[in-house]
Amino acid sequence: MIETRDLWFSYGSREVLKGVNFRANKGEVTILLGRNGAGKTTLLMHLNGLLKPSRGEVWIDGVRVKYDRKSLIEVRKKVGFVFQNPDDQIIAPTVWQDVVFGPKNIGMGYEFAEEAIKSLGLKGYEERLCNSLSGGEKRRVAIAGVLAMNPDYIIMDEPTAGLDGFGLKNMIEIIENLRDSGKTFVISTHDLDFAREVGERFVYMDNGEIVHESDRVDLRFANRCGLRIGNARGRLIVIPHNAEIPDVDADFIAAMGTKAKKRASVEKLEVDITNAVLERSILRAIEGHTVMLICSTEMLNVVEREAEKFPVFLEILDGFDHLAAVNTDSIFDSTIKTKRR
Ligand SMILES: Nc1ncnc2c1ncn2[C@@H]1O[C@H](COP(=O)(O)OP(=O)(O)OP(=O)(O)O)[C@@H](O)[C@H]1O
Ligand SMILES: [Mg+2]
Repeated sequence: MIETRDLWFSYGSREVLKGVNFRANKGEVTILLGRNGAGKTTLLMHLNGLLKPSRGEVWIDGVRVKYDRKSLIEVRKKVGFVFQNPDDQIIAPTVWQDVVFGPKNIGMGYEFAEEAIKSLGLKGYEERLCNSLSGGEKRRVAIAGVLAMNPDYIIMDEPTAGLDGFGLKNMIEIIENLRDSGKTFVISTHDLDFAREVGERFVYMDNGEIVHESDRVDLRFANRCGLRIGNARGRLIVIPHNAEIPDVDADFIAAMGTKAKKRASVEKLEVDITNAVLERSILRAIEGHTVMLICSTEMLNVVEREAEKFPVFLEILDGFDHLAAVNTDSIFDSTIKTKRR
């Protein structure tokens, strides 16, 4: 795990990180979201000692980062950093020279460099001059140079900037393969499709602070953090049948599954959407409406998987196990208020 504890950082008098407590769990892909200037790059640069905190601490696998040369070499072996712009990273003339630069520098063998060349599809490129490569190729060389040191953690700053559709797909595959082989990622991005595809935890930054964390893209925060979210407008509030019904002005109410329908009837909620419930609920939300979808718990996974594909603000409320086990009719009498427009 990489952690920052009460991390503060200023460029001169300009305070950019203000008490950041960030965590990236081992084996996970953590996505960092936030508007331009929020402090993402600055935070990422602390995770492998490229920047030294003005105040606070960085911990990697339970060890506090120190800033002498020897300690920093150990940190860099463990945590690789892929810069937003590959030109900031590529230093040697040819692809091979660049990829082995890191391991050579610290007296490591080249076995991971060779593996990285293969896994990034750079076989045959070894003697090419880096400055003759396309942007997408340069990016792969930069990643290979990081993998050549076999780090456990890989930090990537906006790795999809400037990639076309194929390049994006390729980047997703690279990350997924490396994740499956046990690498941990921390990635900053403004790219919603990419974030959804690879992310497992999402951390939202604004003005030098972490403002929210979630385990799926939370479009309301993503929107606030300047993520490009297309035209998501409406809300789909998914309410497990054993959850409290929130006090929300809904344009439409739907119930999916027998338990959900029973719950709706106990609550005396008139259900507007009665067939093709999931599709029509999503459609109404895409149109910009607020939809409450009461859902039997066993269907939540399906609902989440489907709804996440569409540009809607998806909220899934928590249910309560102890409520599911007992007779719904007696528990949920009339204690919860529900407003309808
Ligand atoms: N070297 C520097 N010297 C002075 N100020 C800097 C420096 N680098 C960044 N900043 C400032 O620090 C703030 C945070 O910058 P940072 O690059 O961390 O933001 P970011 O979230 O990565 O933004 P973006 O999405 O545009 O990449 C910005 O206001 C920026 O102007
Ligand atoms: Mg940045």
